[in-house]
Amino acid sequence: MGAGKTTIARDLGLSHVETDADVPLELFDEGEGAFRAREAEVVRDVLRRSEPVVVDLGGGAVTTPEVRALLKEHATVVWLDVDVDVAWKRVAGTDRPLARSYEDFKRLYEERRPIYAEVADVAARDFDDVVLAAAGIHVEHGALQRLGELVTGDGPVALVSDPQVAGIHGMDAQLALGSRLAETHELPPGEEAKTLGALDRLWQELRLDRSGTIVALGGGCTTDAAGFAAAAYLRGLAWTAVPTSLVAQVDAAIGGKTAIDLPQGKNLVGAFHWPKRTVIDPALLETLPEPQRLEGMAEVVKTGLLADESLWELPDGDLVRRCAAFKAAICLRDPLERGERAILNLGHTFAHALEAAAGYEGLTHGRAVALGLLAALRLSGRDTDVVDRVLRPEPARVDRERAWEAMKRDKKARSGELRLVLLGDDGARWDVPVPEADVRRELDRLIA
Ligand SMILES: NC(=O)c1ccc[n+]([C@@H]2O[C@H](COP(=O)([O-])OP(=O)(O)OC[C@H]3O[C@@H](n4cnc5c(N)ncnc54)[C@H](O)[C@@H]3O)[C@@H](O)[C@H]2O)c1
Repeated sequence: MGAGKTTIARDLGLSHVETDADVPLELFDEGEGAFRAREAEVVRDVLRRSEPVVVDLGGGAVTTPEVRALLKEHATVVWLDVDVDVAWKRVAGTDRPLARSYEDFKRLYEERRPIYAEVADVAARDFDDVVLAAAGIHVEHGALQRLGELVTGDGPVALVSDPQVAGIHGMDAQLALGSRLAETHELPPGEEAKTLGALDRLWQELRLDRSGTIVALGGGCTTDAAGFAAAAYLRGLAWTAVPTSLVAQVDAAIGGKTAIDLPQGKNLVGAFHWPKRTVIDPALLETLPEPQRLEGMAEVVKTGLLADESLWELPDGDLVRRCAAFKAAICLRDPLERGERAILNLGHTFAHALEAAAGYEGLTHGRAVALGLLAALRLSGRDTDVVDRVLRPEPARVDRERAWEAMKRDKKARSGELRLVLLGDDGARWDVPVPEADVRRELDRLIA
């Protein structure tokens, strides 16, 4: 009571049900038993639904054993853990029957805490914690050491990594997985991992049955490729992402997109296949080379611009947690990229055009995104200072006509306009029509 459940459940923007709304408070006049019985009925109905739903559960519902059993079987339970005085301030003076005196309220709070602790899968302090829990994302300094407990299920594990990450963090991961570790595999470094040849070898090596879990330890190339390997192997196997690069912790390992490349283009074969859990250990970033960090900072700056927060100034742990939660919230609302998720492409249309013009050589994705953000900000009438200061982008040395052709192809220019993601006064908008001439002018400014 007073923890903020209703506000957070609404702010998630997902389909949600408030159980209290269907249980009349007047039932309390017949005794708490009548109220709890009706409440249990409502919970039973909601949890029987086949489509996913956020259930905003009345604070006392878990005191009913039947409700506890239903939750255990059908739900991920998030405990919004707030101080008693904060909760009291919110409910004092309202018409809630169990919030009439501070002493009684505090006693109830103390009585229920152990029950909440027992029922909860995750304890949360704020909105981001709830989003991360809903998306199965665990952010913790030192989490790699607890990997054995954090990988879901109890079947065997196949650990998949790249040679560099395996050399630095592979032993810690193996030790933490303990007796669950059944196999270890290496994918080639970088984009080579995202090829049919690499996956063919991995699929042929795998010995897991359907009770097994693939654990992908590495940067975005490893999580993309191993995630897709899991999506297709035995028609879909559980997997856990353990992202080790900044790109992967704030972007690639969030949102369920997995893919490999074809000679015709990047990420052309893939699947939406959410990892059962994503384990983010910000301590792993300590061994990341500086150029790789800068690659990730391009996505951090993009996320900060979308969220309208200076996320790039935060220490690593907070930065990664906030970026992961921001992307996860959008992906939970739009898992198949039918709408809102498109805003995550801010600056990316320009970036893809520059990368294509460079023949995917000599211009990294992060540098291209930094340039793309400059163009998106200018077209949005915004200052570019942050991008200049944090990402220090240099103009790309590519052929202007090739870049323009790629840009038009990517966005299927129609009647003299291209559709882009831009920043408006009330947040990002996608599919904004921009005259070709303006887009061409801004693209040209990015090229040396
Ligand atoms: N699925 C998605 O939604 C999504 C989103 C963004 C990017 N991606 C994909 O991610 C890929 C790029 O990811 P990336 O930049 O992480 O590339 P990457 O996986 O190649 O990793 C970059 C380099 O950093 C090394 N590395 C990673 N973690 C390290 C650590 N902790 N210490 C030392 N070295 C470490 C790796 O060995 C590699 O050499 C691209 O293929 C891109 O398409 C996917």
